Amino acid sequence: MAEPGVPYFDLKAQYRALEREILAALERVCRNATFASGPEVEAFEQAFAAYCETAFCVGVNSGTSALHLALRSLDIGRGDEVITTPYTFIATAWAVTYTGATPVFVDVHPATRTLDPAGLEARITARTRAVLPVHLYGLPADMDAIQPLADAAGIAVVEDAAQAHGARYRGRRVGGLGRLAGFSFYPGKNLGAYGEGGAITTDDPALAARCRRLRDHAQSRRYYHDEVGYNYRMDGFQGAVLQVKLAHLDAWNRRRAALAARYTAGLAGLPLRLPSVPEGTQSAWHLYVVEAERRDALRAYLETEHRIATAMHYPVCLHQQAPYRHLGHRTGDFPVAEALAAACVSLPFFPEMTDTELDTVVAAIRRFYAG
Ligand SMILES: Cc1ncc(COP(=O)(O)O)c(C=O)c1O
Repeated sequence: MAEPGVPYFDLKAQYRALEREILAALERVCRNATFASGPEVEAFEQAFAAYCETAFCVGVNSGTSALHLALRSLDIGRGDEVITTPYTFIATAWAVTYTGATPVFVDVHPATRTLDPAGLEARITARTRAVLPVHLYGLPADMDAIQPLADAAGIAVVEDAAQAHGARYRGRRVGGLGRLAGFSFYPGKNLGAYGEGGAITTDDPALAARCRRLRDHAQSRRYYHDEVGYNYRMDGFQGAVLQVKLAHLDAWNRRRAALAARYTAGLAGLPLRLPSVPEGTQSAWHLYVVEAERRDALRAYLETEHRIATAMHYPVCLHQQAPYRHLGHRTGDFPVAEALAAACVSLPFFPEMTDTELDTVVAAIRRFYAG
């Protein structure tokens, strides 16, 4: 009989476990007709701010919108520069571009795959207004090194926490480490909506108020607009679903950490670079990404011989994407990011994954390198 295979990801199992709670939450939105913004979103915002240990949370319609508004709230715009890494999902850079500012890339560190502070100072100019480190795959960026450099230059740190709900850095939750943070609730995230969603967290009341206004057409009063705003509101269904799911996030993250530890033990000794978590840091383990020798052959083998699905986050660096070619970078400018793009494999990984499924993946990878 053919092997059952292992999916890369499965949201249906999570729904089956939560079905009654989710349907009750959705029904409440329908009955109360609280479809756009409203009490469900406000209740979620309060719960998520408490979870992130921040004073404020502003719910929006995507992680991209969250990052865009976070930068807009700081009055970043045309002529400004924002430093980030070329090894992230492209929306990190979109947020900068949407403001009219220019993204400036700094390579990532090979061990953490997050912004390498060693390259940061040299890229700060008189135009730099913010640093946008990405907590990639759930691992908090090296904030202790980044923040003093930003402070010395008088620029803000804005966290891209889209992949890191619940991660901790020196005991503190991500979301409260910089001036503002942007989260994504895209369905596949550690905390995923039933549609699109995102949020900004901050401790600054003025920035929170500005984000709240900007997401709702920049209205101070109904039909009175102070500046150019956006329709970036979170919808009521997402607020209701996210309240249900937030209560399970820590348990899911613990399961992710256990799965990651099992992968790391099982894959030791193979020609793979495995993820590592620095002292004092607690990853949210959004993805389990290895760098593999003969990456494409490995992926093809897993798929065709074992029906094991894998993915790549990310196969092309941002400086090599068409919208950012005008920045004038060449291959070789960001060697760590480029090497990662050439070798990364995201292994099957989701909280409902069984130990048996994980062991099947490990055994198949061992067979590939043995033969
Ligand atoms: C690192 C990172 N930044 C930003 C985003 C944008 O979030 P969204 O897809 O919700 O717009 C994502 C997720 O897709 C992401 O992974």
